[in-house]
Amino acid sequence: MKGLSVEIIKQLSDNYSYLIFNNSNSSSIIIDPAEANIIITLLKKKKLKLDYIFITHHHSDHTSGVLDLIKEYPEVKIFSPSKLLSLSINKISDGDKIKTSFNEFHILSAPGHTLDHVILFDQNNNFLFVGDVLFRLGCGRIFEGTSKQMHNSLNKILELSDQTMVYCGHEYTINNIKFLEHIFNKNTILEQSKIQIMEELNSNKRSIPFNLGEEKRSNPFLNPRCEMASEFRKKNNYSDHGFFRYLREKKDNF
Ligand SMILES: [Fe+2]
Repeated sequence: MKGLSVEIIKQLSDNYSYLIFNNSNSSSIIIDPAEANIIITLLKKKKLKLDYIFITHHHSDHTSGVLDLIKEYPEVKIFSPSKLLSLSINKISDGDKIKTSFNEFHILSAPGHTLDHVILFDQNNNFLFVGDVLFRLGCGRIFEGTSKQMHNSLNKILELSDQTMVYCGHEYTINNIKFLEHIFNKNTILEQSKIQIMEELNSNKRSIPFNLGEEKRSNPFLNPRCEMASEFRKKNNYSDHGFFRYLREKKDNF
């Protein structure tokens, strides 16, 4: 679909919310709002009407802006995988296809970080909104689910098209690089990723969005068989899930 734009909105200390809109009407979507005032100012500046809010999971740093957005835009439709205060929501779950006035989201359940977590895939536009499941060169902490569930959720993302652009819930990339350097020492693929990411951070002050094809080559949480990890795995006889669990536990204590 032509003319679709995604604007990245910095929220709280390191969260991202996303504004999606097109060029042919004034309709818009907000994903995971934390601070409504920043979002309302942006919508007004762009002369957009907020028609849809999508929530990826129930954590407050992804939902705390909803109430004030409703006050400003009482007609807005809310799509959430679980209850949100006493608000009337449209519950979304695995396999749903939600059409808005200008795009369509495929909903994929992705438990692990939380049990209710969903990711939103706009296949026509190659946009994927992953909340706190996948981060650039990392993944979310496992708060409610099991490492097996989180591994399966990441495997679902691994199957999506290399062309996909990924929008995640936090800017954690620098810390993720430090962790991978700690585990894998000197590594050509990591060095190359680091150079590219530092350039992006220097010019845009952020490392989001990122390309899923590149991430499959450089993120061992997403792809335990990626080249970066091959030497390490030759020496340590882990299964894919065992290696994922090892990495996630190490990162929890890093
Ligand atoms: Fe979260």
